[in-house]
This record gives sequence, C-alpha cells and structure tokens, in this order.
Amino acid sequence: MTERPTLRRYMTRHSALDGLDPNLIFLIEDIASACRVIGNSLRNAAFEGNHGLVGDTNVQGEDQKKLDVVADETFARICENSPRLAALVSEEREEATWLKEPEEGDYLLYYDPLDGSSNIEVGLSVGSIFSICQVEKDGDRTLLKKGRAQVAAGYAIYGPAMMLVLTLGHGVDGFTCEYGTGDFRLTHPSMTVPAKTREFAINASRYRYWQSPVRRYVDECIAGTEGPRGEAFNMRWTASMVAEVHRILIRGGVFLYPQDTENAAKGGRLRLLYEANPMGAIIEQAGGAASTGTMPILDLMPDDFHQRVGVILGSADEVNRVAEYHAQDRAAG
Ligand code: AHG
Ligand code: MN
Ligand code: MN
Repeated sequence: MTERPTLRRYMTRHSALDGLDPNLIFLIEDIASACRVIGNSLRNAAFEGNHGLVGDTNVQGEDQKKLDVVADETFARICENSPRLAALVSEEREEATWLKEPEEGDYLLYYDPLDGSSNIEVGLSVGSIFSICQVEKDGDRTLLKKGRAQVAAGYAIYGPAMMLVLTLGHGVDGFTCEYGTGDFRLTHPSMTVPAKTREFAINASRYRYWQSPVRRYVDECIAGTEGPRGEAFNMRWTASMVAEVHRILIRGGVFLYPQDTENAAKGGRLRLLYEANPMGAIIEQAGGAASTGTMPILDLMPDDFHQRVGVILGSADEVNRVAEYHAQDRAAG
C-alpha cells in the first residue's frame, strides 16, 4: 500500500536527514493548524454570519471581507505560539507585528491569510499563502528580504479537498487534509511543472493597459494554429492566484499578472512578500520559472512590506519567452 506520511512525520524525517530545525517544524505545524481552522471558517461562514464585507478597506485600499479578517486573526493567534517566531507581516496589517526581541535564527512569517477572497460567495477555490525567512543576527529587525532568503514557503488551497503545498528548498510536496482525522498527509510528492504548456491565465479585461511584450505574447497564443506558435492555446482565469498556481503545478501552464499602464504607479497588482515570493519559490522549486518580466522575482530587493510587483510564473519555456519579449522590447527602445 502507498505510504502517505503525515506532515509531522515527513518533517521529522527531514529533520533526521538534513537537519531541519525543530523550531521550523513547530512553525509549519502551527501554519497547518491555522489553515485547518480557516478551512472550517470558510465552510461554516454562512452559519456564523461571516459572509460579506467588513465595511472597511485594508492597508491596500481594498475592500476587506469578514473572512479576510477572521483568517488574519486565526493565522496570528495560532502562529504566535511558535517559540522562535519573531515577527508577522500580513496583507491585512499595515505594520509588522513583533512578538519577541529578535535573535539570530528566529523566524519571520509573511502571509496572505485569504487569497482570492472575491471567490468565497461564488463557491470557488481560495487559499492562504505563506513565506518564512530568518533573522540573521541578534537584534536585527530587517523584514525586507529578497525571495531567495526564504527558508520555507507554501500555500493552502481550500477547494474540493483542502491541501497544503510546501517547499523547504528541496522540491515541492503536496499534502491533502484527510477528512475525519484532519491530518495533512503526503499525497503529491515531488510536484513538478511541465516545461511545455498550451494553457495561459491572465485577466484579459486589462488588455487595453498591457505593455507590448504582454500583448504580443497573448496575441500569439490566441492566434492558435494559424499564428506564429502554430498551436491552439487555452485560457483560464479564476481570480485566485492560489488556484492558478495549483493548476499549473498539476498540469502546467503560465500565469500572468503583469505590471501594466494602469497599475504601474503601484508597481503591479500582486504583493511581493506574501504572494509573489512564496509562489515564485514554489514554482522554481517545481522546475518552473517566475519573473517580473525583467528579472527573476526572487532576486528583487523589496523596499516596502506591501510592495507590489508584476508576476509571470509557471512553465519555464513560456515564462522565458515572455521575458525574452520584454528584453527585445527594451532593446528596440
Ligand atoms: P487577495 O484576495 O488576497 O486580495 O488576492 C487576489 C489576487 C489574486 O489572487 C488574483 O490573481 C488577483 O488578485 C485577481 O485579480 P482580478 O480582480 O484582476 O481578477
Ligand atoms: Mn492574495
Ligand atoms: Mn488576501
């Protein structure tokens, strides 16, 4: 029978094999617990009066849903117990939350408690995204770090099944929450993104704002067998990055939320520290690529917690093609 170790067993094995820090195991277990509780809140939202808006906007100036707040509070309340967690940075909080005096090796948690929240009432998949970095030396309160500094990253998807997808820097593994026990068990070991694909995901209603490299790429996909690609492409858009990334991990594809003329002043749409970086790490660890259009996302030095960025990620051949179109556009002046 196929062995499906629990998340705890999987991580304790890593601890024995490659020295995974037990404090990181505690933190990831706390994140998994938070996601389990958020999954329950989502399922019970109609009974608990948790559908709809809070009536306020968050730090991003976006409408806050009641469940955005519930999910944020759940993450913070559960993860605050982690003994070596020094600080939290959340999409829903303007400021970082410091939990202790930072010591070398302490952990920093960046999270989007509920991603794709416009999908909740429609009954489509939503998720939670997290990224973990470490304090470099005692007393160091630096929270702005490149994505390459992440020691772990992942997401939970609340869909037909609840899953946790995780990278510890050696590939990507997927765990399904078993109905009944609540255990996350390894069901999708060594997830990989196929290099080639015929599927792309973009919010096409923004066509009028796109820069020419993105228009060129999408126009060529849409031209299908009669166009320069000579292949028929399919388009997808769920408005939930977690669902898009999950689909790409399962069957390939490319996801674009580029910087365009409408969002350029803000840097883009998606947030670097708790959306683009963790998803970029997952996709790279699964053999795909993640680019801003001009550079690998993970090499970008942030200058703000809530910084936004253009995101093109998924199958390496397609991401490299879009990056190449950007390079040709720059070269042409
Ligand atoms: P969030 O719900 O955390 O604000 O994130 C939503 C993001 C992302 O998940 C999705 O790809 C994108 O916003 C959807 O944007 P559109 O509204 O342009 O479709
Ligand atoms: Mn989000
Ligand atoms: Mn969110």
